Amino acid sequence: PTAPAVIVAIDGPSGTGKSSTSKAVAEQLGLSYLDTGAQYRAITWWMVNNGIDTDDPHAIAAAAGKPEILSGTDPAGPTITVDGVDVAGPIRTQEVTAKVSAVSAVPEIRTRITELQRTIAAAARLGIVVEGRDIGTTVLPDADLKIFLTASAEARAARRSGELKGADVNVTREALIKRDAADSSRKTSPLAKADDAVEVDTTDLTLQQVIECVVTLVEEKRAGK
Ligand code: DC
Repeated sequence: PTAPAVIVAIDGPSGTGKSSTSKAVAEQLGLSYLDTGAQYRAITWWMVNNGIDTDDPHAIAAAAGKPEILSGTDPAGPTITVDGVDVAGPIRTQEVTAKVSAVSAVPEIRTRITELQRTIAAAARLGIVVEGRDIGTTVLPDADLKIFLTASAEARAARRSGELKGADVNVTREALIKRDAADSSRKTSPLAKADDAVEVDTTDLTLQQVIECVVTLVEEKRAGK
């Protein structure tokens, strides 16, 4: 018998290992994978590229419906396109990273992207791992399993600087703290732990340990424990 589709929500601030963990868990369990941060980055990239003033919430709201954003959900090779253009590289620039919090705080942007996310999750036949900031609280409140990843600011900054290859750890730390504060304090669906989420502090865990922990939690869920 085939197992029913399982929906896993993984939320938390930047640098907690969300993406690496979510991708690996999805791969190991044969599930789809959705990086919702990439969608917010993609729409931010489009705003920047089309001369929209990202300090003007009205301008952002007015353009929210314009770009077509498509996410490929294979965890072995996730893709993201805007109007048919592959933006996997450009959405990781410092400029997009600096502006994404302002763009993603606009309610019209959240409504648009949340709709995309729900459609993708509903279409995943075997199930999906969805990573973000508000998945367990707002996007998929009925998810089968909700994980909230945390880590100390030091650990998160160290991991991020490692990814950015030699970036100054103090600068990275300040930027990361600023972005998390903005994401946690916005009015519309802020970064938050759902009441029924399992919190995993990854500060002293290896990536492999975090992956194993989440895989076990999913398997226990599926077994009906
Ligand atoms: O995970 P990330 O760093 O790629 O996310 C980029 C930004 O997108 C993050 O600073 C806030 C926003 N975001 C959001 O508001 N809601 C989500 N579910 C995912 C990301």
